[in-house]
Amino acid sequence: MPERINVNGTITPPERAAVPALDRGFLFGDSVYETIRTYGGRPFRLRDHLERLRRSAERLGIPHAAAPVEIEREILRTVADAGGGDAVVRVVLSRGPGPIGYATDGCGPPTAVVYVRPCPPLPDGWRGEGVDVAIVGVRRNSAAALDPAIKSSNLLNNFLAWSEGRRLGAFEPILLNAEERLTEGASSNVFLVRSGRLLTPRLEDGLLEGITRAVVLDLARRHGIPAEEASLGPDDLRGADEAFLTSTLKGIVPVRRCDGWPIRDGRPGPVTRRLLDLFDAAVQEETKAGSAPGSTLR
Ligand SMILES: Cc1ncc(COP(=O)(O)O)c(C=O)c1O
Repeated sequence: MPERINVNGTITPPERAAVPALDRGFLFGDSVYETIRTYGGRPFRLRDHLERLRRSAERLGIPHAAAPVEIEREILRTVADAGGGDAVVRVVLSRGPGPIGYATDGCGPPTAVVYVRPCPPLPDGWRGEGVDVAIVGVRRNSAAALDPAIKSSNLLNNFLAWSEGRRLGAFEPILLNAEERLTEGASSNVFLVRSGRLLTPRLEDGLLEGITRAVVLDLARRHGIPAEEASLGPDDLRGADEAFLTSTLKGIVPVRRCDGWPIRDGRPGPVTRRLLDLFDAAVQEETKAGSAPGSTLR
């Protein structure tokens, strides 16, 4: 499957794609984005991603409706041009080019970029054995500074945490907020299981409302697994019976160790394995059983 990049409606191979040097996305990280997964050419939860992109743009005052192209149409067109298949789609919407300075007069129109690439196969060990996480010193941005609920392309907070995590030998860092409550990973949400109960940090503690997180909470509730969004601390994770990460790209990934210590016996537990099966079935149902792309399970 070839890679394709669509800039404001023009699809090219990646090496020919370009945005202006004075684009505010480049100058200030003044842009928002989504990562969407396609299965057999059909996007999973497309509506939810488009809605979150619109909300993120609105929070930053990026005039989403002034984009020169219709984003949903360009996503589907670029995926088709790349031949469908199992792809990762990155959609970026920036405020567009403009004069240097914070004033937004004279900026725009927004730049819309859709980058489609083959989805890298996830190593078997991730799902079968789990990955290591580390609670890092880098704190998640405060919601009063740059709200993590906005999926902005300014990812330096996430990058610094990820770098620290890699230095600690972890696959994914887990970030606390300034009050030392669990928030999320650099590119994932985190869940834990305690006494059969599924727990995940509450949105008020400052994190992205992940689409996969919402799918997992919905599946748990519909299949009789008690689930709760709560304020959680580092010891809740370290002492959990089970833990896992969620993201569009990775799906559900069990956590086997935190800070070098095994989570319980260091093997994916029964609630995680059940949710993995339910998640796979949900993806299958939405993308393979003839339902419209982006239709939801609700
Ligand atoms: C900071 C952060 N949290 C959580 C997630 C997971 O969100 P989703 O399930 O919508 O991919 C991501 C995804 O990239 C992320 O960047």
